[in-house]
Amino acid sequence: MPMQKDIERVLITREQIDQRLDELATQIHDDILAEAPSCPDNGTPIIPDITLIPILTGSIIFVADLIRRLPLKMQIRVMSVTSYPGTSTSSKGASVEAALTRLPERLDGHHVLIIDDILDSGNTLKVVKEIIAKKNPTSMRSCMLLRKQRPEAMAETCEYVAFDIPDEFVIGYGLDYDDYYRNLPEICTLRPEVYENDIK
Ligand code: IMP
Ligand code: MG
Repeated sequence: MPMQKDIERVLITREQIDQRLDELATQIHDDILAEAPSCPDNGTPIIPDITLIPILTGSIIFVADLIRRLPLKMQIRVMSVTSYPGTSTSSKGASVEAALTRLPERLDGHHVLIIDDILDSGNTLKVVKEIIAKKNPTSMRSCMLLRKQRPEAMAETCEYVAFDIPDEFVIGYGLDYDDYYRNLPEICTLRPEVYENDIK
């Protein structure tokens, strides 16, 4: 069944995403290099241990596109957090799915970058930061594809944000409704008829 008929409007196009990801990757790369100590012999930067922590499932497309723009040696350790189960369009509180989470015991010496699709109530990011902080990383930053223009989202510290968007429910480019629409190449809003009968 075609999914395009369920789209209300395109909020962010494929071209806008590509262009912004280029900028964001350059910024992340430059920040890491700027902080890296130099080799005493030849002055080249000593790249620290970098661990990316993508949050499943919504970040999969974003992280796949972002990491291929970051020519740095890095480890990737996923976490799975659920907050919008099934047909929910508002947060039901973030909970970690242990079976799909692959964090090391400790993160001493590692610079951590948390990657997620969207900052909404901020619950997911808070829970994730608490867990990671206990593993003692050297630094911990977060990078979100989207941030909704609502006070709770704006209040949460987040070092990198690709796009600030209105406080609307969005789908595509990894974001889902009831686990559908993640494969839409653009970021879109959903026609209200699709979720009206399901609102929980
Ligand atoms: P938070 O915990 O409320 O900040 O929400 C974060 C998670 O909720 C995201 O990682 C998404 O999985 C989901 N989410 C929040 N807003 C949306 C949306 O507009 N569309 C799809 N998923 C969303
Ligand atoms: Mg998510």
